[in-house]
Amino acid sequence: MNIRKMKDTDIAAVSRIEKLTHIQPWSENVLTDCYHSDYLCLVAEENDYQKELKGYIILSQVLDEAHLLNLCVSLKYQGFGLGRELTARGIKEVVKRGARKMFLEVRRSNMRAIRLYESFGFSEIGIRTNYYQGSSLSEDAVVMALVLPVN
Ligand SMILES: CC(C)(COP(=O)(O)OP(=O)(O)OC[C@H]1O[C@@H](n2cnc3c(N)ncnc32)[C@H](O)[C@@H]1OP(=O)(O)O)[C@@H](O)C(=O)NCCC(=O)NCCS
Repeated sequence: MNIRKMKDTDIAAVSRIEKLTHIQPWSENVLTDCYHSDYLCLVAEENDYQKELKGYIILSQVLDEAHLLNLCVSLKYQGFGLGRELTARGIKEVVKRGARKMFLEVRRSNMRAIRLYESFGFSEIGIRTNYYQGSSLSEDAVVMALVLPVN
């Protein structure tokens, strides 16, 4: 398994995973905008000749504050440690770039992700009421923060 920077040729595959995995997926346009911005976009791919994309992480950083914007592992590869690997790599990369704190929002019901983030030391710092919109999909976000180690 190889974690590397996203390329523009990955966006279609990323979008497919996004649609099949997230409750409210980002559109391909949003993913393309992320790719063309200065966000840090990393993908995990199999090391064989097929180079199947298995997951990705997207982070933004302004000065010493990083924000985990998206983390996703393709359904059939969930539960094998890839989410943990992508999160660890994302943290490592923003620390290298001088981040000292990291924030994220996660659906209150997404215990799998919350457990993952807690295992990295993230803790809840607040709730954004109805942060996620959409008739049956509206839900509060838990805001989590992590103080990062000095590089
Ligand atoms: C959340 C997500 C990224 C986790 O990726 P993953 O590869 O399945 O997770 P991992 O196998 O690396 O597991 C990491 C940790 O997650 C937690 N976890 C994984 N499966 C879990 C489950 N079924 N129940 C509770 N916690 C679970 C555990 O803390 C686990 O650590 P452990 O293996 O040491 O016990 C993945 O499930 C996903 O893409 N979900 C849909 C998109 C999403 O919700 N993204 C997060 C948005 S903020």
